[in-house]
Amino acid sequence: MINIAVLGYGTVGSGVVEVINKNHASINKRAGQEVNIKYVLDLRDFPGDPVEKVLVHDYSVIVNDPEVKIIVEVMGGIKPAYDFTKQALEAGKSVCTSNKELVAAHGAELLAIAKANNVNFLFEASVGGGIPIIRPLNQSLTADEITEITGILNGTTNYILSKMTDEGKSFEEVLKRAQEKGYAERNPEADVEGYDACRKIAILTSLALGKQVDYRDIYTEGITKITKTDIEYAKALHASIKLLGTSKWEDDGKIYSMVAPFMIDSDHPLGHVNGVFNGIFVNGNMLGDTMFYGKGAGKLPTASAVVADVVDAVKHQGTNIMTIWEQDKVELGDRANFAC
Ligand code: HSE
Repeated sequence: MINIAVLGYGTVGSGVVEVINKNHASINKRAGQEVNIKYVLDLRDFPGDPVEKVLVHDYSVIVNDPEVKIIVEVMGGIKPAYDFTKQALEAGKSVCTSNKELVAAHGAELLAIAKANNVNFLFEASVGGGIPIIRPLNQSLTADEITEITGILNGTTNYILSKMTDEGKSFEEVLKRAQEKGYAERNPEADVEGYDACRKIAILTSLALGKQVDYRDIYTEGITKITKTDIEYAKALHASIKLLGTSKWEDDGKIYSMVAPFMIDSDHPLGHVNGVFNGIFVNGNMLGDTMFYGKGAGKLPTASAVVADVVDAVKHQGTNIMTIWEQDKVELGDRANFAC
């Protein structure tokens, strides 16, 4: 049996508990041993909830327990997630996270700490929710020089743009509905201003490059200025407006990266990615084009990716499976020269 702890019992944390409980037989088989949730850390109480039995409010109980080998960090944000993750890795525990803010800001450092301690820092759920994209870039596409990554990386904004297109509604009307359905995060600014997509394209680009790309260097524009008229013009041109995060490796040796609403032909594979779905298009110099598609947000798809990381962490105890990122700053190409 392997003991794990889940930090945070919000949407994703409760999803992780649900996935492990529902699919325990196949998960245990694939992991090669029983995956046991020994602790759930949350500041709140959940009287009557089955998780009450394992609920703790003090992180030191978890990090100081030698029986806990893997920590699932699904709290979101930098504080205290960064300190908790660093302490866990330094204590010889692998960490699996869905936290894109954490990976975008501190990925290089945390990967290096994990490697030094012979454990893993895994973050499949940080980009594309349930879609496998981190693992392919880290393991399956390693024979290629990546030349482009372009993705619809935010489910909330894709839902909003899809509804504006299908129902002719305004940005504000559809945002309200997205919040009611629980797609938009606590603060929708991160979604609608493109900050969430920016962190995700920074993570994918860093992974493809093996060097940390600073998300703050990526030009980022959200969808708040998209009007019903923009949508009508796009339709007339047989195109769709999509918020894309894109990085291109150009012949001048530079990487050009940006997040912005783009008008793309409706026949382009990304033109068919609608609603809360994400699509990630990757070009490799040997492979050519490949496309990853699926649910980019939501409790169970995101939790599925986190638990898949847990299974990997169990299978690869004592072996570091992630390529580390050099911490030197990557100089991105000037946006004025970005070729659309
Ligand atoms: N707010 C994010 C989205 C959640 O809408 O895609 C998944 O990262």
